[in-house]
Amino acid sequence: MASLLITGGAGFIGSHTVLVLLEAGHELVVLDNFANSSPIALDRVMELAPADASKRLQVIEGDVRCAEDLDRAFCAASASIAGVVHFAGRKAVRESVEQPLLYWDVNLGGTRSLAEAMGRHGCGLVVFSSTATVYGEPEVFPLLEEMPTPPVHPYAQTKLAAEQMLAALVRSQDWRVASLRYFNPVGAHPSGRIGEDPNGIPNNLFPYITQVAAGRLERLRVFGDDYPTRDGTGERDYLHVMDLAEAHAVALDHLLQHQGAAQVTLNLGTGHARSVLEVVQAFERATGISIPYEVLPRRAGDVPKLEASPESAAQVLGWRASRSLEQMCRDGWAWQRANPNGYQ
Ligand code: NAD
Ligand code: UD1
Repeated sequence: MASLLITGGAGFIGSHTVLVLLEAGHELVVLDNFANSSPIALDRVMELAPADASKRLQVIEGDVRCAEDLDRAFCAASASIAGVVHFAGRKAVRESVEQPLLYWDVNLGGTRSLAEAMGRHGCGLVVFSSTATVYGEPEVFPLLEEMPTPPVHPYAQTKLAAEQMLAALVRSQDWRVASLRYFNPVGAHPSGRIGEDPNGIPNNLFPYITQVAAGRLERLRVFGDDYPTRDGTGERDYLHVMDLAEAHAVALDHLLQHQGAAQVTLNLGTGHARSVLEVVQAFERATGISIPYEVLPRRAGDVPKLEASPESAAQVLGWRASRSLEQMCRDGWAWQRANPNGYQ
């Protein structure tokens, strides 16, 4: 089993992936500055992980933009780091429009500092968190990886630039890189012990719905019902965060077993887009709780639809998302109900 560095491992997707990687037997160093997460998430991961896992997880509080913090992380493992999963970054589209330099600094600058540290420590293997928003406002579905990527906001621009920087290292230094373009990860570990813990009023649909169900918010605001979609509300390709976490373990195995330079860019989604109202109905069916809603105008920056082709991920990794929308709702609700204030 490998020693791996997980940046941003205390976050939503990171914490679920850390659990899956500990279950697979890997030794992990997590580097996180807790800018958007709580160390409690990793305590909870340890409760769920196999008994011997406490010897295989080290947590370093630090910043991916800081060379000394990165050097500390690379030196923390008992064996040299064989690969990195790079989750650390900022992900809010509106914030990226308001504070573009922050996004270039953390998302691109952070990836550059990480790549330099990897060079210093003789590691050339990385799984990178990219996003479906690199496709801009597409009109043809399902989305294939080779389709145009005209990003329309700094968040997507910085993620695409980081993908391109890593691809250049594949060409110049034989690195092994997987850029994973996530669609809409939702839900939580079925135990209800770890999940998504947004700050303040949630920006995203799923945590907003679970907070309405919990009575923390009065009603869902549906942003637009005049899109050119099945029922007029926005369509997205939601996937269970545990499916996504497992995809990282498979992508790492794929790169670790690969001889020589490798670059894979893969969409991670189910291949089935669901509308806002379909998600509301699925949540109501899965939990028996009704979700009051009102329709508001479209939200600035939203696109009508995103839907992955999951075929490349299936061909290259042998991975497909397997959990249903109902499971996403059930598990997301179990987390919210047991942790009404997140990790606080
Ligand atoms: P998250 O905010 O929950 O996790 C990100 C983690 O990175 C947090 O623990 C945060 O504290 C940490 N972090 C932020 N800046 C850091 C820095 N400078 N140094 C060290 N740690 C830092 O987000 P998430 O939903 O788990 O997303 C993980 C990654 O996946 C992000 O890069 C995000 O852009 C990408 N992504 C997320 C989604 C989604 O819908 N959640 C979709 C596509 C892509
Ligand atoms: C958003 C980001 C995306 C980011 C992802 C994870 C934007 C434009 N996109 O994706 O870049 O990677 O979050 O952080 O911000 N909706 C409502 N009411 C709500 C919330 C959402 O109707 O309260 C609708 C939206 O209009 C959209 C769908 O639900 O049609 C999904 O929205 P959301 O969960 O925010 O995800 P994205 O916008 O796809």
